[in-house]
Amino acid sequence: MPESLAEIFLALHGRTPRIFHAPGRVNIIGEHTDYNDGFVLPAAIDKEVRVAAAARSDRRIEVTSLGAKAKAEMDLDDGAPRPRGDWSDYIRGVAFILESEGYRLKGASLVVASSIPEGAGLSSSAALEVSSGLAFLSLADIELAPRKLADICRRAENEFVGTRCGIMDQMAACLGRRGRAMLIDCRSLDMDSIPLDESRVSLVVVNTMVKHKLGEQEYNQRRTECEEGARILGRFLPRVRALRDVTSEQFAKFKEKLPEKTRARCGHVILENERTQAAAASLKTGDLASVGRLMAESHRSLRDAYQVSCVELDLLVNLARNMEGVFGARMTGGGFGGCTINLVAPESVDTFSERIADGYRKVTGIIPEVYQCRTADGAAELIAESAM
Ligand code: GLA
Repeated sequence: MPESLAEIFLALHGRTPRIFHAPGRVNIIGEHTDYNDGFVLPAAIDKEVRVAAAARSDRRIEVTSLGAKAKAEMDLDDGAPRPRGDWSDYIRGVAFILESEGYRLKGASLVVASSIPEGAGLSSSAALEVSSGLAFLSLADIELAPRKLADICRRAENEFVGTRCGIMDQMAACLGRRGRAMLIDCRSLDMDSIPLDESRVSLVVVNTMVKHKLGEQEYNQRRTECEEGARILGRFLPRVRALRDVTSEQFAKFKEKLPEKTRARCGHVILENERTQAAAASLKTGDLASVGRLMAESHRSLRDAYQVSCVELDLLVNLARNMEGVFGARMTGGGFGGCTINLVAPESVDTFSERIADGYRKVTGIIPEVYQCRTADGAAELIAESAM
């Protein structure tokens, strides 16, 4: 039997740790809307990061990553820590932002393990940030509202790691709930928790196993294009602070004022916000056919107008479209590789998984990973019996 994380920690540090965990997520719909103050509809999933942690008597943080097979250190009294350009920056960033917000942390030894495939768009970084953030706070006896922790982790990624992500992933990691998807208003951080009947629909994630290089640069560029669009539209619509404030009617009236590419990007975001709210309403009434139609429109728009898909993602979505028992399929996450999310009738999951893997392999020569995910709860401390 493999050693549990607690046992590994005990062997390394001679003490029994506390164990914290945070889930990854899939986004059902609402892509590239979060950094436009818009709406997203993710669900936390049963793939997660676990952090075993114990306080130290000094102010040093010492982390062992079982996945990276590497160690990292940090001094909490270092007022200007520098990013190293690796996995440890997410942890370093969270500790740094917490300290700079006035939360006095304790030194700690951490051992980190993850079951979230990395770089697949399932939010492994947010889960690492949130689980280690929760560990730091708990060891220092500090209680923080989950929304606040999500915001601190987003800031760690924006300000320390240097990725200009929105808040969807951190919110899902902090506030996900088993059996639920969450409609999040990324401006107010209000949340509508929507039942997802897993006896009627399964979340099946298919991993293209590719990650195209330009991803991050293109992500930041999209964000800049959206901000530019909001600025231009704001000249005609003074209430507009972000694309979230523009309705599709207003967009139709003023879109000619935008340069062509910016117009396409803004069009995606504005309509995606409407699709996301419509999909949440349909999910509430159990109208999976409508959710599926909206997912198909979302994918088309991400492919043609926002241009963040790639041939591998398009192939998976096309293959899924004609398969029995599939309600909807689209790329999920930032794009340029990573995964698709498929809503599949439970009785069709096995055939779907086989056929999609086969179809994808035949065309690309790549064997994709297929994950049948269950929804999961957000970050928490694990009680001893369930710690791995
Ligand atoms: C990445 C980011 C999120 C979000 C998605 C696109 O996952 O981390 O904040 O912007 O891309 O919807």
